[in-house]
Amino acid sequence: MASKDAPRAPLPMAGFTPDPNADRELVNIHDYERAAIQKLGPGPLAYYTGGAMDERTLAANREAFQRRMIVPRIMTDVSKLDPSVMVLGRRWPHPLWVTPTALQRLAHPDGELASARAALARGLTFGLSTSASTDMADVAALGGPRWYQVYLLEDPGARRAMIERAIDCGYEALVLTADLQRLGRRERDIRVGFTIPSGVTLPNIAKAAGVPPEEAAQVPFVSTLDWRSLEWIASFGKPVVLKGVLHPEDARRALDHGASAVVVSNHGGRQLDGAIASLDALPGIVEAVGGRAPVLFDGGIRRGTEALLALALGATAVGIGRPVLWGLATAGEQGVGRVLDLLIAELELSMALAGCPDLSAVAKLVVRNHYGQNM
Ligand code: FNR
Ligand code: LAC
Repeated sequence: MASKDAPRAPLPMAGFTPDPNADRELVNIHDYERAAIQKLGPGPLAYYTGGAMDERTLAANREAFQRRMIVPRIMTDVSKLDPSVMVLGRRWPHPLWVTPTALQRLAHPDGELASARAALARGLTFGLSTSASTDMADVAALGGPRWYQVYLLEDPGARRAMIERAIDCGYEALVLTADLQRLGRRERDIRVGFTIPSGVTLPNIAKAAGVPPEEAAQVPFVSTLDWRSLEWIASFGKPVVLKGVLHPEDARRALDHGASAVVVSNHGGRQLDGAIASLDALPGIVEAVGGRAPVLFDGGIRRGTEALLALALGATAVGIGRPVLWGLATAGEQGVGRVLDLLIAELELSMALAGCPDLSAVAKLVVRNHYGQNM
């Protein structure tokens, strides 16, 4: 074994040059999670990491990846990789987007602006939440590809005003989140008495409702959605992405009622505890949609290899939730950038090692259970 004082010359690994500048502390997304846990105060930590009730769904989202294995292909030309994919008329350079997460200023003073800048620098689409702590116009001013996530406000005028503002700000699609009819019971938040600290506000809700920013947290959302709500949002003329789909029949109905894409998601285990893991729901929804529309996926992705699994099971692209918050808490824009770069590099490496030059090859990969059997 090399002594501790030995110079750090790169090891001569036949044919491959190790990166001498590699960060040796923050090597993967799990390291960013640990770093963020050290940095975040108890309230933001509970809010970001927590799931609902017994956190069964939160755990199942992760565990579902452990149960699946890839059957790689060999002897294919992977000297050049093309990980790009068409989504709603735009070519995404990587099959990843930053899925909306609320209140990013809890992690860092630059909040959503830092995350959106990091996404933009990599050509990734940034999803801005209705419950963002940054004004949608300020994110739009960066000029990157962007989708706006809609929670419908109870007041009809405010409801319409928010959507019209998002369209004026050039958001390319409206993401209607369907799984937050009520807020899930998040017991970590209850135990630490989590409240939104003063200085962090919800400007998009405040502007739409015409209330001062400090009152925005009291503005009610509608308590129920139905297929007419989806048709109403689609009537604004922008593509609508329905997020929170777990049943194949709901995916079919979403398309029938005007959705241009669906997101297979259980809100990161934060809503119905006991809801099926996103990855377990994915194949049935891919089958039901039958190639008629993009099927996005989120829930539990912490590795490029896990993105590969979701893509192999038929996802068009995947959303990254908490890892972005961990990058943001650890090192602001640079931290988010590093998290995204790690996931992109891991995905490309795993594509090459699985013998897939592009995503159509990934979609043909065989996935088995962890005993190597068909599932
Ligand atoms: C979310 N999510 C979410 N979704 C949404 O549509 N609007 C929102 O405002 C939020 N807010 C939010 C806050 C926090 C702290 C988290 C962790 C999540 C859900 C999010 O878009 C996504 O579905 C999950 O986070 C995906 O799971 P992973 O990647 O976090 O495991
Ligand atoms: C959450 C909401 C705001 O999950 O989407 O906390």
